[in-house]
Amino acid sequence: MINCLVTGGAGFIGANLVRKLNQRNDRKIIILDALTYAGNVERIGDLIETRRVSLIKGSITDRQFLKDSFRRYQFDEVIHLAAESHVDRSILAPQTFIETNVMGTFQLLETARVYWKGCQNNRFIHVSTDEVFGSLPLDSPPFDETSPYDPKSPYSASKASSDHLVRSWVNTYDFPAIITNCSNNYGPWQYPEKLIPLTICNAIDQLPIFVYGRGNQIRDWIHVDDHCEAIILALTKGNVGESYLFGGNSERTNLDVVEKICDEVDRLLCRREFCSKKLIKMVKDRPGHDFRYALSNKRAAKTLRWTPRFDFEKGLKETIAWYLRNKRWCDRLRDRQYQDYFKKQYRPRVITGSTAREGIAL
Ligand code: NAD
Ligand code: TYD
Repeated sequence: MINCLVTGGAGFIGANLVRKLNQRNDRKIIILDALTYAGNVERIGDLIETRRVSLIKGSITDRQFLKDSFRRYQFDEVIHLAAESHVDRSILAPQTFIETNVMGTFQLLETARVYWKGCQNNRFIHVSTDEVFGSLPLDSPPFDETSPYDPKSPYSASKASSDHLVRSWVNTYDFPAIITNCSNNYGPWQYPEKLIPLTICNAIDQLPIFVYGRGNQIRDWIHVDDHCEAIILALTKGNVGESYLFGGNSERTNLDVVEKICDEVDRLLCRREFCSKKLIKMVKDRPGHDFRYALSNKRAAKTLRWTPRFDFEKGLKETIAWYLRNKRWCDRLRDRQYQDYFKKQYRPRVITGSTAREGIAL
């Protein structure tokens, strides 16, 4: 059995990945997660302490804890997803982004490098984002693996820094790492602070849905299952030292996505008297808001034989249905942790057509 460490395995993508990895029956999976506000054991509760999946709680910033974990569990592979991941939070409070995403990645790289010295066949997959490339003009072709890094938010700068660290470990120490950069994920178990789950929950609860700026920014949406499939292919078929981009081939404006969600929630709840689109409020733009992200899948298609399978509209409908079935999970998260965060949240001014109170929807 291969011992596979998944950092951030109690998070949105990590938990979906652990489920997929577990179906393969060829690995013992050890999740290492600090269980921050974004980590949630309910996502993986049924798998923990089964024969092949275990969870250890601790931070990637704690070197001694990492050393002890490597010694105890003898990891052959690392899939590194642990991170602070929300741009709005990085604008409010950047420090933990630097500590976790930059320093945490450094500690993990060093621990693995020392532990794996002289060993063969180890792999370190560093899961990163399209946001490291910065903002793409409307008429430009998608980013590819040769595009220069140009991060614009504290979050993307911290992820770019960690990518640079990983690349330098490959060059300097022959460290067996691969970097993956993916576009915006959606799907089950995403924390309801990101655009899609937040909009679904607010449409269900008839709360204001805040769209930043004019809502014309474009994101390339990928279903989390497609992303997880791609990470596993990078792990099993990828070339050390390379990076792979995974895009969803589904560029949509934010307003388009939000309106689709409103229509589908109304349809599923058989609402006749109420139109969720009335909840949409255009608010002051996010500071430094990237206009567009898009990624070319050419290398991933050629080397890994990967292309995204999900049709966005179908995947979105399935995701909305999932949130309706699992709304109580979101409510539990919102009750416990949200209030505090949103009290501190920067408050965008409502700029068009609204008498609603100022602030981000809760
Ligand atoms: P998430 O916020 O849902 O989960 C992050 C997980 O990391 C949580 O379980 C959290 O408890 C854990 N964590 C945070 N700090 C930690 C620390 N110091 N030590 C150990 N664990 C810690 O994030 P996600 O959306 O699942 O993203 C996972 C990874 O994928 C991140 O590295 C992110 O940058 C990257 N990514 C995300 C997207 C996306 O659209 N969500 C797209 C591309 C890349
Ligand atoms: P988000 O889900 O935070 O992901 P990212 O910033 O990493 O792309 O946001 C997706 C897009 O939706 C982004 O352009 C910002 C916008 N957005 C809103 O308009 N309103 C919201 O309440 C949120 C959370 C995001």
